[in-house]
Amino acid sequence: MAVKDYDIRDLDLAEMGRGRIDWAAQEMPVLRQIAERFAREKPLEGVRIAACLHVTTETANLVRALKAGGAQVALCASNPLSTQDDVAASLVVHDEIPVYAIKGEDTKTYYAHLEATLAHEPHFTMDDGCDLVSLIHKERRGLLPNIFGGTEETTTGVIRLRAMAADGVLSYPVIAVNDAQTKHMFDNRYGTGQSTLDAIIRATNVLLAGKTVVVAGYGWCGRGVASRARGMGAHVVVTEVNPLKALEATMDGYVVMPMLEAARIGDIFITVTGNINVLDAQHFAVMKDGAILCNSGHFNVEINIPALETAAREKRVGRPFIEQYTVEGGRSINLLAEGRLVNLAAAEGHPSAVMDMSFANQALSVEYMLKERGRLEVGVHPVPEAIDQEIARLKLEAMGVRIDRLTPEQERYLASWQEGT
Ligand code: ADE
Repeated sequence: MAVKDYDIRDLDLAEMGRGRIDWAAQEMPVLRQIAERFAREKPLEGVRIAACLHVTTETANLVRALKAGGAQVALCASNPLSTQDDVAASLVVHDEIPVYAIKGEDTKTYYAHLEATLAHEPHFTMDDGCDLVSLIHKERRGLLPNIFGGTEETTTGVIRLRAMAADGVLSYPVIAVNDAQTKHMFDNRYGTGQSTLDAIIRATNVLLAGKTVVVAGYGWCGRGVASRARGMGAHVVVTEVNPLKALEATMDGYVVMPMLEAARIGDIFITVTGNINVLDAQHFAVMKDGAILCNSGHFNVEINIPALETAAREKRVGRPFIEQYTVEGGRSINLLAEGRLVNLAAAEGHPSAVMDMSFANQALSVEYMLKERGRLEVGVHPVPEAIDQEIARLKLEAMGVRIDRLTPEQERYLASWQEGT
């Protein structure tokens, strides 16, 4: 198949995209240092990378870094609504990257874009949600012999990869970037926390102070969303299925209750569970007039939209990114961004300063896998501890934060067992 060079909205948006990519770069000092070293050492020379990531200003900086290291990168979107069209244009025009991504593309185009990216015959896959790995293993197995590794950005993708590994079908090593501490402790918590509220505010302009915000799921993302909503003066209710996380949320000071109870009192519902039908017909049936629903989990399955469609007498677009469903009793239920990742659809995703660390992990993981080529077993691997520590060190340095060192006496003490009470 002939490979089309790109498929994006509008090349004329390129200048605006370049300005915004450069702006983001200022907040990505760790990735910048890596890019500078890559430009000198060219550790990725000749490596073809297929990347399926949200096409944002931060991703553009990652792609530039990989290219500086000598890689040939082809890029498609990891969600039909998350593409920033000006960024896609700038990558094509200024960086000569084949990009296949258009904000609002339908499902057929979304998969055609994955196919177009794979037509570049990658040695390496970089996923955010496991879609490339999944497509390769289901339909493009002919590519497998040339692929030596991959990386995965997000919790949902890592869960899918582990399921593939458990079923014995995963055919190459993949690094779970999400599981690095410098990724999930910051990106998932502070990134999702801030960008989700940013998106709700941009889409609705509602005042959060005094509202009851229901956060479904108290993983790293849920913790971040809950803490930022509380910071804006909301009453925060958390729902959970895991007793430990529910206990943690309780002791963090949130009210914890089952969703069926929360559904009656919530003004704004935010799902961040990674699971299906967390908000369902029985919840819509008891929600207050004007309830706002959104999702910041990876897939658009957390809110049962077909059930909402069935329950609705009428549906209309309230304002951009808001669909107003009129249900029984004339109540209106407002769905944001079609139930897709609201922070990327209605805002700009996580701020650059946290993506700095996530994408530093991506860049260094590719370099590591290339060095270890042929030595890593098929399966899901952690980011090496040394990379995680180095990224934390570089980030602190860039932020001008200095820390203490263990004295020789303290090191000896920690290594000894003789001293006690
Ligand atoms: N995932 C969440 N926020 C993101 C961003 N700004 N860029 C790329 N991927 C993201």
